[in-house]
Amino acid sequence: MSSEKDNIFSKFKNLPIDSIPKTILVAITLCLFCSMIVSLAAVKLKSIQEENQVRDKQKNILQVAGLYSEGMNIDESFGSFEPRIVDIENGLFTDKFNPRTFNDLKASSNPSLSIALKDDPASIGRRSNFATVYLLKNNDGTIDKLILPIHGYGLWSTLYGFVALEEDTNEIFGLQFYKHAETPGLGAEVDNPKWKAQWKGKNLRDKDEKLMIQVSKTPGPSKYHIDAIAGATLTSNGVNSLVRFWVGEAGFKKFLTNFKNGKT
Ligand SMILES: Cc1cc2nc3c(=O)[nH]c(=O)nc-3n(C[C@H](O)[C@H](O)[C@H](O)COP(=O)(O)O)c2cc1C
Repeated sequence: MSSEKDNIFSKFKNLPIDSIPKTILVAITLCLFCSMIVSLAAVKLKSIQEENQVRDKQKNILQVAGLYSEGMNIDESFGSFEPRIVDIENGLFTDKFNPRTFNDLKASSNPSLSIALKDDPASIGRRSNFATVYLLKNNDGTIDKLILPIHGYGLWSTLYGFVALEEDTNEIFGLQFYKHAETPGLGAEVDNPKWKAQWKGKNLRDKDEKLMIQVSKTPGPSKYHIDAIAGATLTSNGVNSLVRFWVGEAGFKKFLTNFKNGKT
């Protein structure tokens, strides 16, 4: 048996270097080696990637609140925000989860923490029952801004972002997406500072609490109107639907009313 093995081995050894078996062996060894390197890199880099994702989200929250400047210490500056978890059903803060580690998006795919949407204008399928909001306070403890997470479908992708509201919970300070895959030059113009600037100072609701904010091609009352992006009406429609969904009845409406009335 052993001499048979030796025989096969020496036969293989004596084959020319460019023979098919030797070429296959080199290819397999190379594949295994490369896949090991890739797996090792993926494992080693995972924590760095996760850290970068968290930092990128923090940067976006600073940006939407108008506090970001190039080269700033993001960790330090982000300390001025207080994350809190909102129970969307009753519109109140909850201490059920740690707001520093709670993952809103994972929660929206967990059946025990989310609901399936029958009426789903933002095309998200399920809505988490809990969401992390960020409070920016003045030195005297009063609220300066309230940052709400929003997401929903555009044309090609789900857009993830934040809307920053003034302390009256009605006036918009800013809107910012931190992740999407819309087309550069078309739907991706949602990131264009000029387009985003339109949101500042717009109101969500009129004095009768009617939801008025609207992204559309056709003109509307300037207090509530955002021009759709030229050549990207479909992404614009998606942004319109997702913003209206998240500030509406199935989103943060109850919380915003409670917050304004100091009932959270
Ligand atoms: C390759 C390609 C990519 C497109 N990407 C987008 C996009 O990201 N967002 C969008 O709204 N429309 C996109 N469009 C255009 C839409 O198909 C549609 O024509 C447009 O949204 C209509 O907007 P308009 O009425 O302002 O022209 C894309 C079209 C093509 C051919």
